[in-house]
Amino acid sequence: MALHLYFGISALWGHEGYQTVCRQGGQLGDPLGDAWFLVEEGSILAIGQFIGRTSYGSITQELCIQSVRDGRQQEVTQIMLGWQDGHCPRTDLEGAVVIPAFVDPHTHLVWAGDRSSELAMRLAGASYSQIAEQGGGILSSVRQLRASSEEALMSESVVRLQRLMEFGVGTLEIKSGYGLELEAEAKTLRVARSLGQWAGIPVQTTFMGLHAVPPEFQGKSKAYARVVVDDWLPRLMDQGLVDAVDIFCEEGYFDLEDLENLALSAQRLGLPVKAHLNQFNSIGGIKVATQLGLMSMDHLEVLSKEDERCLGPDGPIAVGLPLCSLYLGISYASLGRMVLKGQRVALGSDLNPGSAPSGNPWLTWSLASLNCGLDPRAALASMTIMAAAAMGMQESTGSLSPGSRAAFMTLPLGFQPVNAVAGMGLNLATKVFAGNLIPHA
Ligand code: NIG
Ligand code: FE
Repeated sequence: MALHLYFGISALWGHEGYQTVCRQGGQLGDPLGDAWFLVEEGSILAIGQFIGRTSYGSITQELCIQSVRDGRQQEVTQIMLGWQDGHCPRTDLEGAVVIPAFVDPHTHLVWAGDRSSELAMRLAGASYSQIAEQGGGILSSVRQLRASSEEALMSESVVRLQRLMEFGVGTLEIKSGYGLELEAEAKTLRVARSLGQWAGIPVQTTFMGLHAVPPEFQGKSKAYARVVVDDWLPRLMDQGLVDAVDIFCEEGYFDLEDLENLALSAQRLGLPVKAHLNQFNSIGGIKVATQLGLMSMDHLEVLSKEDERCLGPDGPIAVGLPLCSLYLGISYASLGRMVLKGQRVALGSDLNPGSAPSGNPWLTWSLASLNCGLDPRAALASMTIMAAAAMGMQESTGSLSPGSRAAFMTLPLGFQPVNAVAGMGLNLATKVFAGNLIPHA
């Protein structure tokens, strides 16, 4: 039993589990002051506070155990009473503030090449759809990914993942959808799996064959959707490559009938379903997503009155992607208003070469508050425990409550959530303890 104690924490955020955060309306409670937590085999065994100490490192006056997993109160009390005897390896975080590592529930991180020329076109006045009509957009990434070897794809992607981890991301989802043929989709998903192994963090692989209609099926989107759902999905599933599925529901891409066919087949296979909805147009996807019991509905920049009526606590989690709004110059999702309706809200980066090449979670945090109406503390919940819930992983990641993976970062003494908003993308993490970046645990 490998135990490790972290102490010397001036404020510990994200110590509540998922149910508590939901009861608090998607809000984190106050942080624990002068906190510690015990890690066993990489997951949190107990958290608590030292009460009555005057400065870090001085003698403990009194010990307060906040929560413990599996009724192991006595054992933890014994360990903590003797914590200064040196039996348990420990790390003094020297007064740092601790928050859970970020969870990114929406990325297209595996791509080949570059599409910055499209930005130049956009700056000269072209729209997302005009760029797509001229051979740019998703299909440009498709050409580049098909031509790329698996090794080259891995090396490009490793660099992006490394950067996200340095920003404090400790769990993420990666979609396919730039292959759009069976082997190229399989190649993408294999790379996504390898990235998780390389980094030592959980990576959820999402099959998004229904991202765009490939050139081979131009004008035959229904035939393409049938092949993806009836043939490719079960085959990729048999290869152990698929944890979830996604679809781009949008004019010129896929419609609500395609969403329904995909969802029913995926759910028969036991897979969670997500959808890109309401990015440019409202086509009624939120109602259908709610009826079908999707895990998450992502984007939601454009909402009709009818869409708004469907929002509430029992529907799929909404995933806001403000970096995409910033880059494309489209409207921002009204996430603060959604929270008022009881809607569960998460945040993601949408990291991709065409509409969100940055992926910076600190900038996401800032934009979520400045432009989407989420208060800074709710935004932190949306980037951690609620984001984990948008991946169905809220019991094992996204918080520092007992039972959760010990993935976290340290921030300077005195940090408050509003500082992240003011930072406008500044990386405030002083140290990240997640996956292969974890020095101990
Ligand atoms: O989530 N909306 C569709 N897919 C991506 C954009 C992909 C691309 O432009 O390559 C998105 O924004
Ligand atoms: Fe996306």
